[in-house]
Amino acid sequence: MDIQIFESLKELNQSFTEWLQEILKKKKSITVALSGGSTPKSLFNYWSELPEGEIEWTKIKFFWGDERCVPPSDDQSNYKMTNDHLFNKVNIPKENIFRIKGENSPSSEAYEYSDLLNQNIKVVNNIPVFDIIILGMGDDGHTASIFPHEIELWNSSRSCVVATHPESGQKRVSITGRVINAADNVAFLVTGENKADKIKEIIENPLESEKKYPAALVQPESGNLIWFIDNKAAGRLTGN
Ligand code: 6PG
Repeated sequence: MDIQIFESLKELNQSFTEWLQEILKKKKSITVALSGGSTPKSLFNYWSELPEGEIEWTKIKFFWGDERCVPPSDDQSNYKMTNDHLFNKVNIPKENIFRIKGENSPSSEAYEYSDLLNQNIKVVNNIPVFDIIILGMGDDGHTASIFPHEIELWNSSRSCVVATHPESGQKRVSITGRVINAADNVAFLVTGENKADKIKEIIENPLESEKKYPAALVQPESGNLIWFIDNKAAGRLTGN
């Protein structure tokens, strides 16, 4: 597990981008599952201000690790957040964007998106394998949309499931542990003081954390796991 701690979001975004470019250099094209929520906005804004050509956008196929079951025009949509902060600002071919259709019935979209993954990304042993999965982490230790109160969804035999937000009851479509842990590269992008307790528990007490927090179950079978965290989220790590 590679943990990188940054004094500023700018440094984190720069380092994350260099990491992405290293992977891009080696491949003709890559598949990336994006995370949602608010953390990625800073990275997307950083990317949108880079000089033209700095990132070879046409080499990237964009997917999502999870989506809220709302229309793509809804402010809660992860697709809309990505559109507003990235796709509307850089030139990404429409055919390279594979959104989860939040406007559809959650259960049918979970099946549809599982099929879409199998048709559009590398499949090994019947599991879709992403080149990169970017994950956020909630202050309750959830990741993608697998929440602690339904942690059993992590081990679903399906690639995508319907999850329920613990407070709002909002339905979500989320990839599951079988997909996340099959990826070639998994990058956590976690910032902010409100994540510091869970970062400490998960990194310093993984065996206990695995029983409670889906984020602690991210243990790629053969892929790389790297944590990009700012010093606020790292603030309670021993020695930090
Ligand atoms: C979502 C995300 C979710 C998110 C965490 C962190 O749809 O909300 O995919 O897993 O990454 O909740 O969210 P913040 O970045 O807003 O703290």
